[in-house]
Amino acid sequence: MDGRPIGVFDSGVGGLTVLHELLVTLPHEDAVYLGDNARLPYGPRPLGEIRRFALAIGRHLEHEGVKLVVAACNSATAAGLHDLQRSLAVPVVGVLQPEAHAAALATRNRRVGLLATEATVASGRYEELVRAHDASVEVISVPCPRLVPLIEGPDPFGEETTQAVREVAAPLQQAGVDTVILGCTHYPILRPIFQRVFGRGVTLVFSAEETAREVAETLERKGIENDDGREGSYRFLTTGDPTAFREMGKRFLQLPIGEVEHVVLEASESQAA
Ligand code: DGL
Repeated sequence: MDGRPIGVFDSGVGGLTVLHELLVTLPHEDAVYLGDNARLPYGPRPLGEIRRFALAIGRHLEHEGVKLVVAACNSATAAGLHDLQRSLAVPVVGVLQPEAHAAALATRNRRVGLLATEATVASGRYEELVRAHDASVEVISVPCPRLVPLIEGPDPFGEETTQAVREVAAPLQQAGVDTVILGCTHYPILRPIFQRVFGRGVTLVFSAEETAREVAETLERKGIENDDGREGSYRFLTTGDPTAFREMGKRFLQLPIGEVEHVVLEASESQAA
């Protein structure tokens, strides 16, 4: 038995869609979530910079005493998962591998679409991972710089968002994909809009459920689960404004959000290579 919490991080509140699934799948585990809201969005940043941010957060979570880190941010996973795994003493689970695996299994016509941030698309990691599962699958990638600001804005389910979804969906529809990876932790809250635009014939793949399953399996195989007779607790850290985090976070977590603590990452941490 291991009573340490699971550490989860994202550039902001999008990773709460992954935390939601973890809290539902592993209700007996404790969790600490860190949102780097002060530096959101990661998507337009160079991969090297995102990697440095991810390493600083990983080290901070280690100081918090976590037993496993979940990089609940596609951009951070694409840019920094390997460096995180090499640098931290605890296991690190990312969000790309579970989605890539699910997409390779789901496609029938071997044409998979990817919607993600510019950084995630630029990394080319999804193509590599999907093809590692099935070399015959073609991945058509579309960067979506407008979606995260719209989702975080005042009217996330409005006409402008639907129009933006139609625009990014069009090249994938033209390419005839039958499976689409929603490769950003913010996108699951737009699921009905995506499904309506693509139609029921297209399978949408999200990371949250697959990632929660991978975390559960990792804890079990390493023998570091908490006592399953208890109810776990969870808490929040943000580099941004705690009130704004709590307000926006409700939309993504769909579970109670208690105290949110402001955190400053050490200068040495944020500079670390
Ligand atoms: N959380 C990021 C991701 O999953 C999206 C938001 C951002 O650009 O920081 O890629």
